Amino acid sequence: MDFKIINSIIGKQRSACLIVGVHEAGKLSTSAKHLDKTSRSYISKILKKGDIKGKRGETLLLHTIPNSDAERILLVGCGKEDELNDQQFRKITTAVTNELDKIGVKEAVNYLGELKIKGRDLPWKIRQMSEASCDALYRFEEMKSKAHQRPAASLKKVSFHIPDTANRANCREAAKTGLAIANGMAITKDLGNLPGNVCTPTYLANKAKAIGKGNSKLKVSVLDEKQMTALKMGSFLSVTRGSRQPAKLITLDYRGGKKNEKPIVLVGKGVTFDSGGVSIKPSPTMDEMKYDMCGAASVLGVIATISELKLPVNVVGVVPACENMPDGDASKPGDVVTSMSGQTIEILNTDAEGRLILCDALTYSGRFKPEVVIDIATLTGACVMALGSHATGVLGNDDDLVDELLLAGKNSNDRCWQLPLWEEYDAQLKSNFADMANIGGRESGTITAACFLARFTKDYTWAHLDIAGTAWHSGAKKGGTGRPVPLLTQYILDRCGK
Ligand code: BES
Ligand code: MN
Ligand code: ZN
Repeated sequence: MDFKIINSIIGKQRSACLIVGVHEAGKLSTSAKHLDKTSRSYISKILKKGDIKGKRGETLLLHTIPNSDAERILLVGCGKEDELNDQQFRKITTAVTNELDKIGVKEAVNYLGELKIKGRDLPWKIRQMSEASCDALYRFEEMKSKAHQRPAASLKKVSFHIPDTANRANCREAAKTGLAIANGMAITKDLGNLPGNVCTPTYLANKAKAIGKGNSKLKVSVLDEKQMTALKMGSFLSVTRGSRQPAKLITLDYRGGKKNEKPIVLVGKGVTFDSGGVSIKPSPTMDEMKYDMCGAASVLGVIATISELKLPVNVVGVVPACENMPDGDASKPGDVVTSMSGQTIEILNTDAEGRLILCDALTYSGRFKPEVVIDIATLTGACVMALGSHATGVLGNDDDLVDELLLAGKNSNDRCWQLPLWEEYDAQLKSNFADMANIGGRESGTITAACFLARFTKDYTWAHLDIAGTAWHSGAKKGGTGRPVPLLTQYILDRCGK
């Protein structure tokens, strides 16, 4: 996709389609007003007829507009003017893009940057629109035969009109950032959507290498099971026992910052299929457990995004990747394993495997002398119960880091919400036979999972993102969402003062 920043006079603007907002109760946006004037009240007449009411996300396509050089105008409802918020703005962009995709135009000029949203400037709106429009045009056709594939999207170029040219450089930067985030999200969605028989740990490792190829700032390395055995990753290795696919520990080391600057380490859960193991999951919706590597996929997506933006920052991605399968050699409930940290774990439920691979990856992460460590994981069904699909759960051992993530989520429109990581919850992990159990009972499952991880992150500043509810859509829109790539990219941008 090609994004341009322009300052145009709407009546004289040539285009296949102009995108213009109208509010509820017939209130016109600035550009709609101009257009109404040049077209001798064409727009207001249509509004009077009631063909479009200005309700949020409503669209109306107009042809042959008097005195306009544009072929079409797409009116889009923006709701009540003083009520427009971040989420609604994004939804409006999605509605517009879906409509453009349906018509099949190649190019459009977008005037929605002039809409007012409390506390948001023009570059913010441009970034959101570039990101959301690419997000809406995303397709996953790789697994369909030619005859069943949807044709690629026609829309190739969007020009954003800016009323204020003083902002031009910032707006260009914003469009570029939005595009880079959308590209990262597409990688994350692709990996999530690929089936478990294609997207194996080896596939993830190869994808990471492909992202690193030709990029002198990014070094990708992959450890095999033998090397992990030498590192004494007994907990991680206990999960992969039942699988025929070899486990991989993938490291993506991006050094865009100063040599001695401590890195941000991102650790992503990469269970390429989670059957539950011997504690096997019920069959309905078990197919969705191919998404259990979305934490890993988001790490690859973020690294791709920051590489594309050449951000002056050091970020290391660490991805433990394996399958969780039942088998004669698989781990059994009651087994005790020794983690890389030396702490022992009683596996009471083999379906609580994410924390078993993450704990060793978190211990391993200590060797990068991190500034902060953030792990990202589709860790608990309990998180979906608590927060649904709207917010990612965040917990951590440092309130400043959690606050930074909450703010980055708000500003990137990819929000997270904090749950308490109090020591009272940690007591639920008591085991009669090992240092800890891998589950903490029926109550507060998201928190006890984080308490488990907290036992391995005492040496550094750490936060945990539970993306079980946000990483993919269930139901008719089944598919990866690309979250939390926007949130993490925003956090990193904030860190390097951008
Ligand atoms: N990958 C699942 C978590 C999950 C469940 C993500 C549903 C998305 C949707 C994880 O490995 C798991 O199975 N967790 C168990 C933990 C339990 C055994 C303590 C869960 O949430 O049921
Ligand atoms: Mn599981
Ligand atoms: Zn899992």
